[in-house]
Amino acid sequence: MEGKSFPTRGGSVGTSTIDVRKPRATYLPFAVPHITQAEIDEVVDTLRNGWLTTGPKTKRFECEFARKVNAPYAVAVNSATAAMHLALDAIGLQPGDEVIVPVYTFTASAEVIIYFRARPIFVDVDPVTCNLNPAQLEKCITPRTRAIIVVHIAGLPAEMDSILSIARAHNLPVIEDAAHAFPARYRGRMIGSMGDLTAFSFYATKTLSTGEGGMLTTANAEYAERASMQSLHGISRDAWKRYGAEGSWYYEVIQAGYKYNMTDIAAALGLHQLARCDWLLERRQTIAKRYTEVFSQWPELGTPPDPPHIEHAWHLYMLRLQLERLTITRDAFIQELARANIGTSVHFIPLHLHPFYRETYQLVPGDFPVALDIYQRVISLPIYPGMSDDDVEDVIAAIGRIIETFKK
Ligand SMILES: Cc1ncc(COP(=O)(O)O)c(C=O)c1O
Repeated sequence: MEGKSFPTRGGSVGTSTIDVRKPRATYLPFAVPHITQAEIDEVVDTLRNGWLTTGPKTKRFECEFARKVNAPYAVAVNSATAAMHLALDAIGLQPGDEVIVPVYTFTASAEVIIYFRARPIFVDVDPVTCNLNPAQLEKCITPRTRAIIVVHIAGLPAEMDSILSIARAHNLPVIEDAAHAFPARYRGRMIGSMGDLTAFSFYATKTLSTGEGGMLTTANAEYAERASMQSLHGISRDAWKRYGAEGSWYYEVIQAGYKYNMTDIAAALGLHQLARCDWLLERRQTIAKRYTEVFSQWPELGTPPDPPHIEHAWHLYMLRLQLERLTITRDAFIQELARANIGTSVHFIPLHLHPFYRETYQLVPGDFPVALDIYQRVISLPIYPGMSDDDVEDVIAAIGRIIETFKK
């Protein structure tokens, strides 16, 4: 290791200093939600006041979230998958329709299309951003195309101007899978205020966490009304209105809906996470900046893009390995990090590599070469507000040691 440039504390990369810190004694998890006493008190208050399911806290969370992302309407649900399902229901997706979706994503982005017996049309992604590549989009559009799904991978907004202009030219709604992208901006506009419908996730590892949860935002009153009704069995009145002082026992089922409503226990968590979201983002930004500052100086690594017209939510820090300069594979690199007590993950296994999609749509790995290439070299590093500066330096030092051992 001697003589190698290694990161030192204090924001610079030393030229002669060797970081001799030992591997961590304790395991650094890949993701940990940021829960404070305020969330705990709010949940306890919810338990004590007796209103556990959808009620006043959920309504307040919807209003405050809508205000934050600058969307006229927000419907709270129990997952982003539910929000995506309701979005496709709102646009009236039919069996046999086609929906364009990037192949580099989690299965939820595409499985919701299949709920309708419609067909996902996979599109390869941009090699730098890992997001839907507008240059590939237009050639996927056919007379059967009914919608375009955009995924903001890692919390980095996709190129919305080009995507929206192609969509408008073909009169197609854009549904944003913003499971990673709260809070994020594209050219000053909040994600959640741009596409026709946007789905957010509040899963345990996400930037705003309610354990399980999601939100659908839109500027279209009809979509919002339909999604709200469908989120609770397609009935005309919310349960919380039915059982409240001003409610009545009477309700009507207008459609066969779903059971996707958010509970007030989840909303209790969400309200406080939302109130702290700018601080939470700042902390993730600081970690990302430190990682990039060091990793961008090591030719064995590639760092995630952070272009000036975008405010990245930094849900994930997706490091790329320059495998040509290393003697180990990505999987072995992950094992080395695990041996150094650093938790990591991989986002994503492109959908066309999974048995279900591969067999159902007769896909082979080479069909989406960019997605395949990114997948083989990517590692998601821990990036969450509860990490200490020492934790961040431990990750950097562990990566430095692995590179030193396995560089060509
Ligand atoms: C890109 C993407 N979309 C959708 C989802 C689904 O989110 P949820 O678990 O809230 O349904 C995830 C979950 O990780 C995701 O990564």
